[in-house]
Amino acid sequence: MSPLHVTRTLPEDATDAALRDDVRAGLTVMPKSLPPKWFYDARGSELFEQITELPEYYPTRAEREILIARSGEIAAAGGARTLVELGSGSSEKTRYLIDALTSLETYVPVDVSESALVQAGEALIAQRPGLDVHALIADFTAPLALPTTPGPRLVAFLGGTIGNLLPAERAAFLTSVRSLLAPGDGLLLGTDLVKDEGVLVRAYDDAAGVTAAFNKNVLAVVNRELGADFDPAAFDHVALWDAGREWIEMRLRSRRAQTVKVPALDLVVDFAAGEELRTEVSAKFRREGVTRELAEAGLELTHWWTDPEGRFALSLSVAR
Ligand code: SAH
Ligand code: AVI
Repeated sequence: MSPLHVTRTLPEDATDAALRDDVRAGLTVMPKSLPPKWFYDARGSELFEQITELPEYYPTRAEREILIARSGEIAAAGGARTLVELGSGSSEKTRYLIDALTSLETYVPVDVSESALVQAGEALIAQRPGLDVHALIADFTAPLALPTTPGPRLVAFLGGTIGNLLPAERAAFLTSVRSLLAPGDGLLLGTDLVKDEGVLVRAYDDAAGVTAAFNKNVLAVVNRELGADFDPAAFDHVALWDAGREWIEMRLRSRRAQTVKVPALDLVVDFAAGEELRTEVSAKFRREGVTRELAEAGLELTHWWTDPEGRFALSLSVAR
């Protein structure tokens, strides 16, 4: 059994500097916002896994159904020897793909969450002793230095995580993914689809309150890392559908007028009663938009699969 290789592409103080920059920038403008990547410390990654099992949260189940039905076709389309997965988390659904990719030699999971990477990597190595697993602790919105591995390469970006990027970030991200591919290499992309507003809002405001806890976890991260004194109980979880932009927005609404101190930044932040802090967008897609955005980055969509209920899509595109 080969050992798990874990590479941190950024020194820990770079992560710290990025958090400081994001918190300063996001809490000193109106409206306030924080990028969603800061949800995912060990607790946030665990809460996300709980979300994937909620009755209201359909994307994980829908994407798993597609992977079970289509992994053979995906494998036949590319014959990848290296699979790179961005935002791999638990790599739970990826196993279907790994089993189908009979020529696969190397798996490169990339995530900001070290705990998720190590847990998933160790489990995979135990289950697939012949597979070389090279985990990368990295931010996929920054330029990625991938290990040198054999081609063809397939990059997978599952779960609908692309929807957590804003449109301009999405375009830059797809261009940077294209630069990781040689002509003929593929991108397997999961996208949640536009649907009934009630279904969408319930998926992001579940009855058990797990998504509310996930949302508030970003405050715990800022408290721990920057010594802030956010009181999570002083904020309400908000999930709303923006029909114009076709995205779900998660926010934290201040229950009262309050002042929060962030000593590491020498910052004092005032919240008015009812003021909202945006913590995530989760865009929902249509086939035409996905095809266009891929084409703009130099990727040609060749396959489009949905689950039988048409809730979620997996697309395969090829670098030209
Ligand atoms: N792909 C998995 C997990 C999705 S949750 C699935 O489909 O279930 C989103 C994952 O992306 C988390 O593991 C989170 O830690 C990671 N992530 C979020 N923003 C990131 C970023 N900017 N760079 C790298 N990983 C990121
Ligand atoms: C990771 N990402 C695709 C999830 C989503 O659905 O946008 C994150 C999440 N936010 C709330 N629930 C789940």
